[in-house]
Amino acid sequence: TVMNQLLGMHQVEKEISQYFGIKRCIVVAGNSDNQEKVLYEFGDILTDSLDLLLPDGDNIVAVMGGTTMALTAEHMGTLETEKRHNLFVPARGGIGEAMTVQANSVSAVMASKTGGHHRALYVPEQLSLETYNSLLQEPSIQEVLTLIEQSNCVVHSIGRALHMAARRKMSDDEMVMLKQNNAVAESFGYFFDEEGEVVYKIPRIGLQLKDVQKISNVVAIAGGKTKAKAIRAYMKNAPKQTWLITDEAAANEILKGA
Ligand code: F6P
Repeated sequence: TVMNQLLGMHQVEKEISQYFGIKRCIVVAGNSDNQEKVLYEFGDILTDSLDLLLPDGDNIVAVMGGTTMALTAEHMGTLETEKRHNLFVPARGGIGEAMTVQANSVSAVMASKTGGHHRALYVPEQLSLETYNSLLQEPSIQEVLTLIEQSNCVVHSIGRALHMAARRKMSDDEMVMLKQNNAVAESFGYFFDEEGEVVYKIPRIGLQLKDVQKISNVVAIAGGKTKAKAIRAYMKNAPKQTWLITDEAAANEILKGA
């Protein structure tokens, strides 16, 4: 029955949050690998979650990119009230994604769907260290970096390590290195092995992993059976305040290997 299914899902949510030692897990029915409607539901759930998490006053929400984030953003609803105002900013700059799924685009869509505002961080890909360092001195970039530092919420996704490395067109040497270090997960431009230890990091401006630990509201969104291993690896050392929004296919697979 529907009731039994619901109870079963709640049980799975509880088991997962206990297994990772995180604050909350919310599981959507289905498999986002092949059902786009699951991603739309992520949008509703993210809206409800942020509605509960974000306090009144001015909030700064730092967001990552990727297809999950982009589709989730499209299906968000209003979060703005008379007392609560939200500013969306990209969490990190230029980590190598197609325009429509870049963190800048995701933050713009989230702002428009939720009734908030957004600021972009313009850092081109493939910069020399010199150019990169001088860009950092630019007042317009400094201003957005300060906002990112002040964020009280971060929303991000999790991907498979080698898949993400290929999508970012990382070099053959880097690919070999990731394989040798058994990288299985990627998030925030960091690569993790099965134990959730960082094995490599793409040096980019914006939020660093240690900053995320200190942010009071953290929401991770990732689903699909194919991502189960990556989700499990990343979540092992995820900040304890994390809320994980995932789907049934990933959840069942995660618990199988638990
Ligand atoms: O590149 C941004 C990012 O959020 C990565 O940190 C993550 O691994 C990836 O996108 C997830 O992408 P997708 O939702 O397309 O699987």
